[in-house]
Amino acid sequence: MSNRPNTTAAAATATRRDPDPIDTLDLATGHCAVVGLQWGDEGKGKIVDLLAPRFDFVVRYNGGANAGHSVQVDDTRYALHLIPSGILYPDKMNVLANGVVIDPQQLCKEIEELRGRDIAVGDNFRISNRAHVVLPYHKLEDALLEAALGHAHGDAGRIGTTGRGIGPCYADKALRTTAIRVGDLLNAAHLHEKLAHIVRIKNRVLGALADLCDQPFEPLDADALCRQYADFGKILGPHVCDATTLLHDAIADGRKILFEGANATLLDIDHGTYPFVTSSNCSLLGVPSGTGVPGHQIKNVVGVVKAYTTRVGGGPMPTQLDNDIGNRLREAGREYGTTTGRPRRCGWLDLVALKYAAAVSGASCLALMLLDVLAGFENLNVCVGYRYQGQHLANFPADAGVLEAVEPIYDQVSGFGTSVDHCRRFDDLPSPARDYIRFIEEHVGVPVRIVSVGPRRDQTLIRLTAR
Ligand code: GDP
Ligand code: IMO
Ligand code: MG
Repeated sequence: MSNRPNTTAAAATATRRDPDPIDTLDLATGHCAVVGLQWGDEGKGKIVDLLAPRFDFVVRYNGGANAGHSVQVDDTRYALHLIPSGILYPDKMNVLANGVVIDPQQLCKEIEELRGRDIAVGDNFRISNRAHVVLPYHKLEDALLEAALGHAHGDAGRIGTTGRGIGPCYADKALRTTAIRVGDLLNAAHLHEKLAHIVRIKNRVLGALADLCDQPFEPLDADALCRQYADFGKILGPHVCDATTLLHDAIADGRKILFEGANATLLDIDHGTYPFVTSSNCSLLGVPSGTGVPGHQIKNVVGVVKAYTTRVGGGPMPTQLDNDIGNRLREAGREYGTTTGRPRRCGWLDLVALKYAAAVSGASCLALMLLDVLAGFENLNVCVGYRYQGQHLANFPADAGVLEAVEPIYDQVSGFGTSVDHCRRFDDLPSPARDYIRFIEEHVGVPVRIVSVGPRRDQTLIRLTAR
């Protein structure tokens, strides 16, 4: 298996140490998943990029262009929204599986941008014919539903979606008769028949929604839409396949699969902080439904977590800091969204939420990211419990209203005054930083095996055993 990155520039820069400590983690002894354990943007892209050379396939199983995964190869930055982060390696097969919702407009743009940067997107990229398609009316509906909420309740009621049409597309998937799948794009006559029916309905519904929000509405033209999306079908057609069969055959042939989670466990439609979530199963539980690969096939789960907490969009976040500390975290961590550029809400690490998310996603180890951002704080607060109406809560609450009202209970640990971004081994870290890591893993009950101290590939520490 080659470790060759997908550009000559990247190839020149991505020299690997020999033997590579990542191999000692044994994550590629079976199929593996990389899953976010907070509210997104934990650094999943960086971890997928690090692990991808040990696998044959990199597979997205959920979400759509609401994701923004950054990968940094020395000074070059890539921001991926739909295409799996394995695309930087030309010999990896990158798959958008059934559970992903695909915006062809965004996807074609992303393909062009990557090709413009010398990244090959050809036979190494496949799209499931069962994946659902995001159409312009989904993005409009997304915006109008948020506007309607704002109209009725002000900002507080809004989910604060990315505006990428994710919710309406998954809603149509559940409705069935108003959904378009990737396979439908390949047959213009069939697409036309479906879209004529759907657009009739959408024009009524969206017109009424726009009316409610006092916004103008231009009815959609089914013929024009059909021509445009049949053209996308022609462009994307060579990549479309039966991804379930592709993955089953790969497994039968002994190929190794890395599943790339988008969004994160606390945004999971069934297990997150509902209704302030996205519309897919972004926890590990989305892998079987989103790919057709049974759960028992997944041997290792890397739970990706920031050394503090961020959240973008609406919804409860008990440890949020609306003060100088929160601002300092935002600036030090460059906490502005990869997809929308919105400032992320920042706060201390929440171990109650993390323990819950690690259990839901079955994390077998943790990758602790952005540890460098905490350098310079004299003390660090860590949330170890919640108080609600004077009582200690035993579990992460199901009700977003309760979570909004809880008061975090903090333990204070020593900070580390010096920067850590130059550290390359766990033992290079100052002892308070090592203590912080031990504190986390002891509380969560899952070992921290990867520590990240900067966005670059080389700024990654591998910890073989807990010590
Ligand atoms: P994802 O959506 O989970 O892939 O995460 P994002 O890419 O949206 O956000 C994570 C950001 O943190 C990106 O800009 C990464 O380049 C950056 N990053 C990843 N690991 C580290 C780290 O250890 N330290 C710092 N300072 N930045 C990091
Ligand atoms: P990655 O993969 C951070 C959030 C949105 C919003 C809510 C619903 O980069 O970690 P949606 O557009 O999905 O209907 O929005 O979910 N959200 C994310 N936040 N990172 C993400 O992805 C996110 N994907 C969705 O901000 O609050
Ligand atoms: Mg992101």
